[in-house]
Amino acid sequence: MSYINYKYLVKTCNMFKGEIVLPEIVETGIQGLDELIGGGFPKGRIILVVGGPGAGKTIFTSQFLYKGIYEHDENALFVSLDESKNHFYPEMQQFGWDFQKAEEERKFIFIDATRMSRVAILKEKLYKGETSSLRSKQLSIDKLVSAIQEKIQQIDAKRVVLDTLAALFYRFPDPIERRTATVDLIESLSDLGPTTIITTELRHLSLERNVLDEEFLVHGVIMMQTLFSQGITTRAIQVEKMRSAKVNPNIVPYTIDRNGIEVFPNMSLFGEV
Ligand SMILES: Nc1ncnc2c1ncn2[C@@H]1O[C@H](COP(=O)(O)OP(=O)(O)O)[C@@H](O)[C@H]1O
Ligand SMILES: [Mg+2]
Repeated sequence: MSYINYKYLVKTCNMFKGEIVLPEIVETGIQGLDELIGGGFPKGRIILVVGGPGAGKTIFTSQFLYKGIYEHDENALFVSLDESKNHFYPEMQQFGWDFQKAEEERKFIFIDATRMSRVAILKEKLYKGETSSLRSKQLSIDKLVSAIQEKIQQIDAKRVVLDTLAALFYRFPDPIERRTATVDLIESLSDLGPTTIITTELRHLSLERNVLDEEFLVHGVIMMQTLFSQGITTRAIQVEKMRSAKVNPNIVPYTIDRNGIEVFPNMSLFGEV
């Protein structure tokens, strides 16, 4: 369907309230990915990116934000539970993405939430008191959500990334507490408006895996994996779910180079398509 036809269809559907309403589409900025997911992410929804350490989740999400800012005029917020600004800015600079400049232009905000994961655990080990109560942990999630909400309004952000939920797992070792915290956080983010990517880690590196709790709460799920076979390492990506879009569910290769991430939608990992 051509772009013009699609826009016309959206407009027509919106005219009949209660009838099907197609979501608007947001181009991802990841070369090759939009072809797999019918043009882009559904606007204002939450997408989960799952992958092991080193899969490229931070690069993927940063590319989504940076291209959003400079190619689609969509301001952006990066919520980091994993690494501080001092690490993040120079790392992203190697791909030509100048987040410092974007911040100075008031198009980007970096929220350093690493304290929630690492420092908090240290404190708990030191004091074993107040900070380890479930209530105080819950409060810290509420505080984070309010901070995110405030920053979204401050720059009218249209794209948000939370990287990575896995960092919170150490803070909530109890599975039930962790599940509650995850559900709370994802639900709060889904009410805020921007198109959001949340990353999380895959616990085993294999094609067979269990479904994660958080997958039920989100609109789309993308898996990034590094496969090792016969001495060859291959990076593979798969769109497992994207509600309201016709997706190509094949596992296809992707690369990371100095331009960031590129997906090859027409190449098969298992011989010719
Ligand atoms: N300039 C680059 N060229 C090629 N690969 C790179 C480059 N910079 C980082 N990488 C690769 O990217 C991966 C790290 O990406 P990152 O987004 O930090 O992963 P994650 O957040 O999933 O742990 C590593 O596997 C590293 O080899
Ligand atoms: Mg990372």
